[in-house]
Amino acid sequence: MIGQRKDDHVRLAVEHQREHSGRNQFDEVSFVHHGLAAIDRPDVSLATSFAGIAWQVPLYINAMTGGSTKTGVINRNLAIAARETGVPLASGSMSAYFKDPSCADTFSVLRTENPDGFVMANINATASVEKAQRAIGLLRANALQIHINTVQETVMPEGDRSFSSWVPQIEKIAANVDVPVIVKEVGFGLSRETVLTLRDLGVRVADLGGRGGTDFARIENGRRDLADYAFLDGWGLSTPACLLDAQDVGIPVLASGGVRNPLDVARALALGASGVGVSGGFLRTLLDEGVAALIAQISTWLDQLAALQTMLGARTPAELAGRDLLIHGGLRSFCADRGIETGRLAVRSRSAKAAHEPTGSPR
Ligand code: FNR
Repeated sequence: MIGQRKDDHVRLAVEHQREHSGRNQFDEVSFVHHGLAAIDRPDVSLATSFAGIAWQVPLYINAMTGGSTKTGVINRNLAIAARETGVPLASGSMSAYFKDPSCADTFSVLRTENPDGFVMANINATASVEKAQRAIGLLRANALQIHINTVQETVMPEGDRSFSSWVPQIEKIAANVDVPVIVKEVGFGLSRETVLTLRDLGVRVADLGGRGGTDFARIENGRRDLADYAFLDGWGLSTPACLLDAQDVGIPVLASGGVRNPLDVARALALGASGVGVSGGFLRTLLDEGVAALIAQISTWLDQLAALQTMLGARTPAELAGRDLLIHGGLRSFCADRGIETGRLAVRSRSAKAAHEPTGSPR
């Protein structure tokens, strides 16, 4: 039954990607163009590091699947794409493995096809410490993702209805595993308050997993006989809103949810993300066009991200966080209501420049 659910998720997520690849709140973030800010391409690096983790590139394939024959094949191809392009990769939820260890191969293929890559295990917030350790062990994982997904569980016909154990359980897992713990949303976003709670629980990294791409309220509603939760369409905080909300939270953040192209990657990095994840868009390429097309797409995105950094004068992804940004539309209203100052973002390169200029010397 879990295997059937995993196959349904893939089918519905890809159908949604085919129908809906339109606007989202990343369109409300733009760079101020400075025509003489550009640098030389050989001086640009894509490397990023955060929470003791070092990645060669700031892009990763985020959690999706495993647990059925079909999803095992998908994981194999995702692992091949990760190996060929050097991007980190996350497993889908490993609950199916805990229920039925005979499906272990559909997850462990992420490691066997990608022996030297950065691989993240994925569990839910009710898993025991022992299960968390088994998940990490099966994948020889470099980090552990714990997903939180109250909206999805609520709409899922067979979903959980009790959530109060999640906070103590996350704290227990974070204290008892020996890889960094990343807590992620699945497309409804982590608010500032949530990220601060996670930080206090000992979580090392927050993956903001915001609205704008794959929508699990819609997917789970599509699995209900009466589809009677349609009113939740559009619930949640967008990924750019989460990034703005989470400034200076004291732990590194990753951005995922609704990332459509290399410009969205650059926007997320400029808004403070240490890395940027993609799920649904890459899954669609894999299923519609095959693994070679996915490898080509990821390679092109990395190449174009380096080109954007060159144009914007950012030697590293982290330097993008000093580039001037304009915030428009509904995102700007969100910032006003949440007390986030946007004017500062529009001129922040001036203070960096002033710091590098000699003071008091005649011109
Ligand atoms: C997901 N996602 C997900 N996340 C998670 O932590 N555990 C999981 O098992 C799954 N399963 C899953 C299946 C499928 C088919 C998709 C497309 C996605 C959520 C995913 O990691 C991500 O947070 C959201 O999909 C938002 O990113 P995109 O799709 O808008 O790039």
